[in-house]
Amino acid sequence: MLEVKNLSKAFNQCEILRNLSFTVKTGGILTIVGPSGAGKTTLLRIIAGLETKDQGQILLDHEPVQPGQIGVVFQDFNLFSHLTVLQNVALAPELVLHQTKEQAVKRARQFLADLQMAALADQYPYQLSGGQKQRVAIARALAMRPAVLCYDEPTSALDPNLRQAVGELILSLQQTGLTQLIITHDMPFAEQLGQDVLRIEPVQER
Ligand SMILES: Nc1ncnc2c1ncn2[C@@H]1O[C@H](COP(=O)(O)OP(=O)(O)OP(=O)(O)O)[C@@H](O)[C@H]1O
Ligand SMILES: [Mg+2]
Repeated sequence: MLEVKNLSKAFNQCEILRNLSFTVKTGGILTIVGPSGAGKTTLLRIIAGLETKDQGQILLDHEPVQPGQIGVVFQDFNLFSHLTVLQNVALAPELVLHQTKEQAVKRARQFLADLQMAALADQYPYQLSGGQKQRVAIARALAMRPAVLCYDEPTSALDPNLRQAVGELILSLQQTGLTQLIITHDMPFAEQLGQDVLRIEPVQER
């Protein structure tokens, strides 16, 4: 279970998140919606340990989250442009999880195959469509074996067919027990997922 408890964050005295609390059970999906500027990306970055919090706790199964337990698929995917698809997926497991190159490559091929990306393993990111890049970003995140995977607006770069496909992919990952947190502006997409929705509103001026 992922627990966010009484989370607060301000940038330069400007309050962005105030006392935000929610839980997502293991294998659950929480969709987070809210207007632009409400603090959705900030929330995701804090959960992933990429941004500091002012107050509150982020717990995974009642313990403070450790680096690497939370994976992120960024809005612009952040692929390494000078590496192939396969290298993008295999690099961090080799460097961070200390897998042998052989192991990392073998596992990377498996994750890519699971996401119907095996044929594109030797392409570079510039040769891929938006939906393909997104799948590489998802494969790369999954290769780190996160307990929780967060997505920042996963449908923003996708046409309607691909939007359907990423929705199906998220639901199929749910079957593996992965906990997922999905930030979106896209209400029909949130409805397609049909899971819990948390609406965050901008903190009111005082
Ligand atoms: N590093 C930072 N320094 C100062 N202010 C920041 C920083 N990051 C975000 N902000 C501010 O925090 C607020 C929330 O930003 P955030 O990106 O979390 O919003 P969001 O809900 O993701 O919006 P959108 O839907 O447009 O992506 C904005 O007003 C933004 O300007
Ligand atoms: Mg955002």
